[in-house]
Amino acid sequence: MIILGCENLTQSNVILTEPTLLKVENLSVNRSGKLILKDINLVLRKGEFVGIVGPNGSGKTTLLLSILGFLKPETGNVEIYGNPPMSRKNFDKIGWVSQAASYLPKGIRITVRELVRLGTINSRNLFFELDKIGRRERVTNAIKMVGLQDVENVNIEFLSGGQRQRAVIARALASQAEFILLDEPLVGIDRGTRNDLLKLLDRLCHDEDKTVLMVSHDLTAIRQTAHRMIYLEESIKFDGSTEDFPDLQTLADLRGIKPVHDQSFNHNHS
Ligand SMILES: Nc1ncnc2c1ncn2[C@@H]1O[C@H](COP(=O)(O)OP(=O)(O)O)[C@@H](O)[C@H]1O
Ligand SMILES: [Mg+2]
Repeated sequence: MIILGCENLTQSNVILTEPTLLKVENLSVNRSGKLILKDINLVLRKGEFVGIVGPNGSGKTTLLLSILGFLKPETGNVEIYGNPPMSRKNFDKIGWVSQAASYLPKGIRITVRELVRLGTINSRNLFFELDKIGRRERVTNAIKMVGLQDVENVNIEFLSGGQRQRAVIARALASQAEFILLDEPLVGIDRGTRNDLLKLLDRLCHDEDKTVLMVSHDLTAIRQTAHRMIYLEESIKFDGSTEDFPDLQTLADLRGIKPVHDQSFNHNHS
């Protein structure tokens, strides 16, 4: 259900000629017997940069995990490139940057380059040195894309939060993923780095034809970059172009809560 009479906006900013990448139909998801997501319908096309916002506990992570096929839906269906999410055909096409990726465990002795190289390992080349040169090149390119070439041989424990986040994104890029899902990638990084990261993601959509689906509490930041916004609270309450995203007062009315400040998105990190 799209509110605010925005039904006609749902597809308005979507490049309708681009192929459908993700299709979510009538998805409902329970966790521990509690309904978390209700009747989600969502279509993403190649090259889109879509931001998902919503309060803490509104089901954003649950939606990403369901799209990835980690959670089994109660009803409904998810297709990526026309196949179930876990299909072998989607192998290597999906890059997943999980919540708090920048908080990589301390004490792990691994360099940026080694971490990014992990992105190129899959079941086909795990035990064989297949396409070693091609893989090396992909790692080098991915590191360059996120601007970490100066620290590529540095142990990740010495990096800042933003640099770590970029290293994790580079890992997804090295895997040649076309569809990149990020869960709260802006948490724990400073403002400057946050802007760099958003610019990078935007460039990936425009220049590399990647598709980005990003969850964030940071409404202000995501609004600056995403072409399309989704407001999720159990169900999709808004889905449309970023310019048409409702103001905070309208959102507050929508939720029956007042007042709602922009900050409420930033405070409740889960
Ligand atoms: N492993 C779990 N088992 C049961 N309920 C969960 C689990 N993880 C999250 N939840 C519940 O699902 C709801 C949505 O959580 P989540 O998708 O993480 O929200 P968000 O990412 O928007 O903060 C919350 O009420 C949370 O308590
Ligand atoms: Mg979450």
